[in-house]
Amino acid sequence: MSISKVMVVGAGQMGAGIAQVCAQYGFTVKLNDIAEEAIEKGKNGIEKRLVRAVEKGRIEEAEKEQTLGNLSYTTEIHDASDCDLVIEAVVENMDVKTKIFQTLDGIAPEHAILASNTSSLPITEIAAVTERPSQVIGMHFMNPVPVMKLVEIIRGLQTSNETYQSIKDVTEKICKSPVEVNDFPGFVSNRILMPMINEAIYTVYEGVASPDDVDTVMKLGMNHPMGPLTLADFIGLDTCLYIMEVLYEGFGDSKYRPCPLLRKYVKAGWLGKKSGRGFYTYEN
Ligand SMILES: NC(=O)c1ccc[n+]([C@@H]2O[C@H](COP(=O)([O-])OP(=O)(O)OC[C@H]3O[C@@H](n4cnc5c(N)ncnc54)[C@H](O)[C@@H]3O)[C@@H](O)[C@H]2O)c1
Repeated sequence: MSISKVMVVGAGQMGAGIAQVCAQYGFTVKLNDIAEEAIEKGKNGIEKRLVRAVEKGRIEEAEKEQTLGNLSYTTEIHDASDCDLVIEAVVENMDVKTKIFQTLDGIAPEHAILASNTSSLPITEIAAVTERPSQVIGMHFMNPVPVMKLVEIIRGLQTSNETYQSIKDVTEKICKSPVEVNDFPGFVSNRILMPMINEAIYTVYEGVASPDDVDTVMKLGMNHPMGPLTLADFIGLDTCLYIMEVLYEGFGDSKYRPCPLLRKYVKAGWLGKKSGRGFYTYEN
């Protein structure tokens, strides 16, 4: 199936990045959000990143203009009626996502593929609320989208080979590297990353070392570009806790229990960089 028109639902940090990259590689993209302010913020972010890319010589002015020309913005989800692919990137909440998929199922053309950028929620469950489960798939981009090469492609139980192949082709067309994974809690990326972050939090909780020292051990000793606690602050501690809960519940295995210190920080509103305080403090 040939894909040329794409809608991205959710203009937050992930959605805006996904829309930018798709537009940069020639797709016609509609960026949708329920909130006008989110669209405005997403649009400004895209323009700023493209201007910076031109200044740094990474792209030509013509490419910037072409990318902007490929993009349009809408608060009207019914505009998905002529799209070949819809990529959902709204909040990580099953109720919100399933409602959107049900709505999209009634709007998008019969041939359209519906993809979710969820970091942890089961694709099979999202697909089951639609009449086209074979055309529902996970496309898990990494943050920040314009920089990170990986896209985990998650097959739900009923995802067809044709759907998988089309999404693999789109991923390669936008110059990302697809990796195919099956639908299990946390997929591959967060099943490995989150327990490491959780364990790093345990070492602080048990007084083994300070956050700074834990991060230094992992940076200098393991060659990680960023320490796990800095990374947790960037991802958002609420998101980290949410994903640990998905792993804990999904596998029913106590090895995934979230660290009490992580719960405490989230309860205190210490959510990391976005709230100005997590394992470190930030001036936003
Ligand atoms: N932040 C990350 O590092 C990261 C990485 C990979 C995947 N993800 C996943 O991507 C998704 C989005 O995350 P984010 O960090 O961009 O969140 P975000 O909070 O920055 O953006 C979410 C956007 O969705 C919009 N929204 C909410 N309900 C909507 C609706 N019904 N219709 C249209 N728009 C709606 C909100 O207005 C907001 O602008 C989540 O599923 C998350 O798990 C996040």
